[in-house]
Parts: sequence; C-alpha cells; structure tokens
Amino acid sequence: MKRILVIGANGFTGRRLLSDLSRQPAYRVTGCSLRPDLFPDPVPAYHFIQADIREEETVKRLFEAVQPDYVINTSALSVPDYCEIHREEALLTNAIAVGHLARMAETHACRLIHLSTDFVFDGCSSTLYTENEKPNPVNYYGFTKWKGEEEVINNCHNYAIARVAIVYGTPYKGQHGNIVQLVADRLRAGQPIRVVADQWRTPTYVGDVTQGIEALMLHPESGIYHITGPTCLSIADIAYRVADYLQLSPSLIEPITTSAMSEATPRPLFSGLSIEKAKRELNYRPCSIDEGIKRSLAV
Ligand SMILES: NC(=O)c1ccc[n+]([C@@H]2O[C@H](COP(=O)([O-])OP(=O)(O)OC[C@H]3O[C@@H](n4cnc5c(N)ncnc54)[C@H](OP(=O)(O)O)[C@@H]3O)[C@@H](O)[C@H]2O)c1
Repeated sequence: MKRILVIGANGFTGRRLLSDLSRQPAYRVTGCSLRPDLFPDPVPAYHFIQADIREEETVKRLFEAVQPDYVINTSALSVPDYCEIHREEALLTNAIAVGHLARMAETHACRLIHLSTDFVFDGCSSTLYTENEKPNPVNYYGFTKWKGEEEVINNCHNYAIARVAIVYGTPYKGQHGNIVQLVADRLRAGQPIRVVADQWRTPTYVGDVTQGIEALMLHPESGIYHITGPTCLSIADIAYRVADYLQLSPSLIEPITTSAMSEATPRPLFSGLSIEKAKRELNYRPCSIDEGIKRSLAV
C-alpha cells in the first residue's frame, strides 16, 4: 500500500485530493494542514496531522512519522492581494517552506508533487504558454510561486510541478470561493457582478486536478506539467457560461476592463496554459468548461 501525504489538506484543492485519494483502497493517506482538520469526514479513512511547514524541524518530524511514498504539496498563501502586502510571510510559505519539503523528499527518497500557478507568467503572450517558457511574474504571489518551483527543482530529483489555473468546483463551507460559485451565488441572489473581460485563463475543474496528480504520481519523469482545463476564455466568458447553465439572465453580469477595475495587485492579462504535454505524456483528459460548471453547481 502506497503512503501519500497531502499538505494543505484544509484548502480547496487539498481537501478534494484528500477526499478522492483516501477513497481508494490502494492508498494510505495522511492530510496535513496549518490548522486542525476543519472538515472531518469519517467515510474515507485518512489520518490528519496539524503542522506548520515553515518550521524545518516540524517538516522533518512529519516525514519521519508518515514515511510517505508521495508528498503532494497544495499548501500556499494563494491570494495575490494578500501576498502583495505580506511579502515576508508569502515568501516563507510559498518558497522557503517548499525548500524544506524538497530536501526532506530527497532524504526520504519519495516523489514530491508540488502545485504551482499560471501566475508565474507575465501574460504578454497571445498563445498558450508551454512548460518550456520562462516565468516572468507580474505580482509578488507569482514571484513566490516561481521561487517555490525553483526550490523543488534545485533540492530534489524525483518531482513533478503541476501548474493549475482558476481552480473551480464545489467548496466546503468556510473555504474560499471560486469564480463559478461566486457568479452562481450572485446571479441566484439577483445581484450584479463585475467581471474582467480582458483577462484570459484556462480554468481547471478541481476533480481534474486529482486526475492529473494521480497520473503524475505514477509518471517516471520529473518536470513541470500544466494541469488545467482544455479551454482558454476570459473571466467574463466564464460568468456567461454559468448564467447559461443556470438559465438565468446574463444582464446582471457587467464586463469591464482591467484598467477600469483598477486593482492594486497587477495580474497577467493572458495566462492560458497549454496542456499538450500532459495529454501526450500522462493521457490527461480534463472535462470541458461546461461539464465542469455542471459538476460544480449540480449539487
Ligand atoms: N485556487 C486557485 O484558483 C489556484 C490557481 C492557481 C494555482 N493555485 C495553486 O494551487 C494550490 C492550492 O490552491 P488552493 O486555492 O486550493 O489553496 P487554499 O484553498 O488557499 O489552501 C491552502 C492551504 O494551505 C494551508 N497552509 C497555508 N500555510 C501553511 C503552512 N505554513 N503549513 C501548512 N499548511 C499551510 C492552509 O491551511 P489551513 O486552512 O489549515 O490554515 C490552506 O488551507 C496552491 O499552490 C495555489 O498556489 C490555485
């Protein structure tokens, strides 16, 4: 039986991974997060350890206790606006702590799968970014995630970096929302919503992250992989697809430009990721955006 350690297990993506993987009898899964288990579920059998990965000694004890074959790091300070003004904390969590994990993965000869982001790119491209392109982040969150990728590459041999983008699905109560849920909530409540029409992404259904990560666990190569949805569209277009699925009037959706939004934190305009490498090497087959919206809202 393979032992899996999921770090960031209270988070949106981490909890979905913990839940999906622990339902499989072939795996013995341990979740780890900064706070205690926020969503205890007796059905899938998993262990849970509260730990702060910013402390190197804690990470050492964690690996000794779990003896993992695979470590999946979904932990992060993942809100760009927060990272922009809490720079020291962001660098510590998103990069320096990742170095602790990578060195310990090397010591224990286990495979490290680390989640990263499309925000490592500057967004100046007009075609989908491949894994070969050089990061050039435009905000501090993207910078720390890029540095986290470097910590992985420089400190362990057996790794995969999985870049995801706009992860959406059904959150647990208390988890941060996502674009699909947010738009659905507003439209159902009859409230207007402003969305940018000139930022393009390849949104990722959260269940497809599990598909990609499982394939990466078994894959013999180390490297960077783009694990996103198959379609690149603007944030406004995502909102229109949600309205369409719910059969609600799109008139409450107000498309605006990035400059009109005047956000304090810069964001890449076009950060669509190419998934051709994952399709070719991992047989990764994500669902369409419409299917993902249906799965997210049909509960
Ligand atoms: N969500 C997206 O749209 C998106 C897009 C692109 C990339 N990503 C990347 O995908 C990954 C998952 O994102 P997410 O949005 O699912 O994350 P999330 O919901 O923000 O969850 C991150 C989790 O990390 C845990 N954590 C933070 N600091 C920690 C520490 N020092 N020690 C242990 N655990 C710690 C937190 O635990 P507690 O709750 O226990 O405090 C939190 O639940 C991240 O790497 C993110 O950068 C996400």
